[in-house]
Amino acid sequence: MTEQSPVTQEKSAKVPTLPDAQTVTEVKHYTDRLFSFRCTRPASLRFRSGEFVMIGLMGDADPKTGKQKPLLRAYSIASPAWDEEMEFYSIKVPDGPLTSRLQHIKPGDEIILRPKPVGTLVHDALIPGKRIWFFATGTGFAPFASLLREPQTYEDYDEIIITHTCRELGELTYGRDLIESIRNDEMLAELMGEGFADKIRYYPTTTREESPKMGRITDLIRSGELFEDLGIEPLNPDTDRAMICGNLAFNLELKELFEEAGLEEGANSKPAQYVVEKAFLD
Ligand code: A2P
Repeated sequence: MTEQSPVTQEKSAKVPTLPDAQTVTEVKHYTDRLFSFRCTRPASLRFRSGEFVMIGLMGDADPKTGKQKPLLRAYSIASPAWDEEMEFYSIKVPDGPLTSRLQHIKPGDEIILRPKPVGTLVHDALIPGKRIWFFATGTGFAPFASLLREPQTYEDYDEIIITHTCRELGELTYGRDLIESIRNDEMLAELMGEGFADKIRYYPTTTREESPKMGRITDLIRSGELFEDLGIEPLNPDTDRAMICGNLAFNLELKELFEEAGLEEGANSKPAQYVVEKAFLD
């Protein structure tokens, strides 16, 4: 019986049909524009929390040659480096070449995942500080979902402030649920000490639907309201570090505000006070 069972299992195991295939294990839909999914992790894949990889599906066959090419996009890894699975958070663009199809994946389906992680939203690109800010819009929350579950974030900083700006309330659900789950995570508490999650300050805002806090984070910084609400001093290059992930205009506006405050942009090769990455849209 025991000798037989591995053979049977191997026979029934699905043979991957895609290059760099990984199997989807879970899919959650939040709104008609947003969903997240988890998939198996390539055994050899090592990455730093906050990095991204190329993922996708096989494209339609070329009408002339009949050949299919992979359709890939850069996606921030939303799961932390220690997780045995991979997690991604995605927008659904109705006529987007990839996401119009990717939004229909189900557990058991295969996706393509190129195991070459890269990115600048990593602790290595920042010099030591006391407080770290994560600024996100929309699906730009994804790398922070990884970094908020990364023990180093809590080892390196006394305070972690995550701001998330979305158009509507329903678009905050993924982030809000994730932070709630971190606060109740016994494994993380055991690893990092009871009360580690008290370091997190969550600051969600909406711009097009009524909510307790409304407005673009850039406006709330300029007016000083953000700092007043949190009861802290404005950005200080000696103590504050920041990571930004959102749409291009948002990234540029924040960069300007940080430079005005005296913070310098960092990179893997030259760590400094803040780093930026575009949230990739299809
Ligand atoms: P707004 O509704 O005022 O455009 P999107 O879904 O278009 O990517 O936007 C996500 C969130 O980011 C929205 O709440 C949007 O606000 C906000 N946003 C877009 N551009 C900027 C910007 N340049 N600065 C700050 N927030 C922005």
